[in-house]
Amino acid sequence: MASDLPASPWPGVVAHYRTLIDLPPDARPVTLLEGNTPLIPVPRLADALGGGFDLWLKYEGLNPTGSFKDRGMTAAITQAVHAGAEAVICASTGNTAASAAAYAARAGLRCIVIVPEGKIAKGKLAGSLAYGAEVVNISGNFDEGLALVREASERLPVTLVNSINPYRLEGQKTAAFEIVDVLGDAPDWLCLPVGNAGNITAYWMGFVQYQQAGNAHHTPRLLGAQAAGAAPIVRGEVVPNPETVATAIRIGNPARWREAAQALEESEGQILAVTDGEILEAWRMLSTLEGVFVEPASAAGVAGLRKQIREGEIDVRGKRIVCVVTGHGLKDPEIVLRSAGEMVTLEPDFDALADYLEMPAT
Ligand code: F0G
Repeated sequence: MASDLPASPWPGVVAHYRTLIDLPPDARPVTLLEGNTPLIPVPRLADALGGGFDLWLKYEGLNPTGSFKDRGMTAAITQAVHAGAEAVICASTGNTAASAAAYAARAGLRCIVIVPEGKIAKGKLAGSLAYGAEVVNISGNFDEGLALVREASERLPVTLVNSINPYRLEGQKTAAFEIVDVLGDAPDWLCLPVGNAGNITAYWMGFVQYQQAGNAHHTPRLLGAQAAGAAPIVRGEVVPNPETVATAIRIGNPARWREAAQALEESEGQILAVTDGEILEAWRMLSTLEGVFVEPASAAGVAGLRKQIREGEIDVRGKRIVCVVTGHGLKDPEIVLRSAGEMVTLEPDFDALADYLEMPAT
């Protein structure tokens, strides 16, 4: 019976948080029903980090295109369509590209994505191509790509959908709302990777807005993690040739640097650099201890938390901590296959299997 159905299934982040998002009220949402992602308690991981605190993961890899970018893209594409755009453009380390491509497809817009050749994970490239974007490789890095699309959006009839576009942040801040809606208040710490610094900026906007609206008693302290080879905010200077295994955050000159620095200051937060080795250790812990398979960059927040606990930089006892894991592990299958040992091949024979497993057969 129709009346037994839920009156309002999840309608996507723009419709769900409409009154809190700065978009024209008559703009019709372009949505893939993104958001409403799981906030997963991870006690085994918390114990492995020393224990004595509550730890959750905001699993953003479960968005429609496999990353948190979908929250921002629904808002940016909604606005672009409302404003009469016919084409959108972005520079990307991969996830923004895939997300822009999907939402543009849904809206019938032309989509151009500029990516650093050979430096984006295969799943992201595959997504962008599958959704029908025009993929342009450049013989340069993300920062050079961003400069290029800024100029393109000024001189060509295309709308920029990188997180310089304020509607991206309007959409992305909804992840903070969701965390408070589940926990009943803001966590004590929010840990996340920092690349172009849009997401840390958006989370801070969301937590502050929710507190001001009376939905949370406090705001969290932010713990941002950059890859050691791409840590301009930590070092206080542009990194001309950023390098890291976490290609999603291989960025040397973040567009939202100033806003991120302000968010870190206002939240009494911390930002630190984590090495590729530390990122990969955290990445492995997430999947082997908790069954949460993310792409390497997504583990940077966990790596940062682990490091600060080990070095006594933060006191986590009795605290509630949320780590944002930003993108799905299947985006970057190559890293797994590269780092896994040799796999075994056996004859399809019981004795061979029992021998191999070193288990007594009955
Ligand atoms: N995690 C993942 C999986 C990302 O793809 C990104 C950014 C970040 C973290 C960092 O977020 O840039 O807001 O600080 N990816 C962008 C892209 C740059 O093009 O997909 P940020």
